[in-house]
Amino acid sequence: MSLFDRLVVASIPVIPRAIVHRVARRYVAGETLDDAISAARTLAGEGAMITFDILGESVTRAEQTEAARDEYLRLLSAIAKSGLPVNVSVKPTAVGLSIDQDLVRRNLAAICRRAVEAGIFVRLDMEDSPHTEGTLRLSLDLVAEFGGVGVALQAYLRRSLADLDRLIRAKMNVRICKGIYRERREIAYKDPDVIVRNFAAMVEKHISAGCYAAIATHDERCIQLALATIDRLKLGPDAYEFQMLLGVDPLLRRILIGAGHRLRVYVPYGRDWYAYSTRRLKENPAIARHVVNATLGLGPSTT
Ligand code: FDA
Repeated sequence: MSLFDRLVVASIPVIPRAIVHRVARRYVAGETLDDAISAARTLAGEGAMITFDILGESVTRAEQTEAARDEYLRLLSAIAKSGLPVNVSVKPTAVGLSIDQDLVRRNLAAICRRAVEAGIFVRLDMEDSPHTEGTLRLSLDLVAEFGGVGVALQAYLRRSLADLDRLIRAKMNVRICKGIYRERREIAYKDPDVIVRNFAAMVEKHISAGCYAAIATHDERCIQLALATIDRLKLGPDAYEFQMLLGVDPLLRRILIGAGHRLRVYVPYGRDWYAYSTRRLKENPAIARHVVNATLGLGPSTT
């Protein structure tokens, strides 16, 4: 990232929320369940599957986690009624991971129980490294009790390739992504090429062990390497899926669907859109530059 882009990214916290909202709208379906269902209908019409995430993370009070759990329960009922190809993603800290082990287990068990009844798959998102081990243990316990539960692993973490062993033993459905949080070099690869290679190694290890992989990336290098593995192993399209974020590279989404691959779009919604949207903007300084220009009244950026 250039020095200018770093400055742009550093200035995001002081930009008025209304302006961030205007640009960040593309990454979030809206504030309500109805907004999310309507986005899912459009995506399903394009041949995509969907995973919903109710925005909210790192809460500090038990009541907040119970409110999040209840929103997930309402969401599961709405999905079941809609008949759309939708599953759910949950951030463990939104339901209590950083507060209390029993609390997070109870909340997630309630979500998984309802999801199993409705035939809906539940994925635990992977957050920053203090939560890696806790999230993996929860996912293994939940899949043993309920089935139909998966987790995400981050290719930037040095530990992830080895973490796959436990998940493969449990025949877990794993989402492989690069990872989005700021981590120390002691535990995380920093070189983008090394992260791409680790991503490819994780996809190869997981699908060649006969496990279902969700290949979550917009990086053509990761996609090409995954496709080469899929081709070499002669896998049918039901052995894996690609996943992409709402608002990022819709053309690539259409290319993959057109080529006969399963593709799921991650659709976040909810009132708590700010933290999620600013993470997306920090990832993409080109878009963040538009936000800064709008704030300064400079008109559209030329880059
Ligand atoms: P990379 O960042 O190199 O992006 C490749 C190209 O995609 C860019 O050149 C750009 O064109 C486009 N692009 C990427 N991000 C963009 C953006 N914000 N706006 C516009 N264009 C953009 N992380 C995590 O730590 N835990 C998790 O549980 C998840 N879950 C998850 C689910 C799904 C479905 C996806 C797709 C991603 C995640 N992630 C995640 C985020 C992931 O770790 C990663 O940060 C982003 O996907 C960006 O990495 P890419 O592999 O796309 O490559």
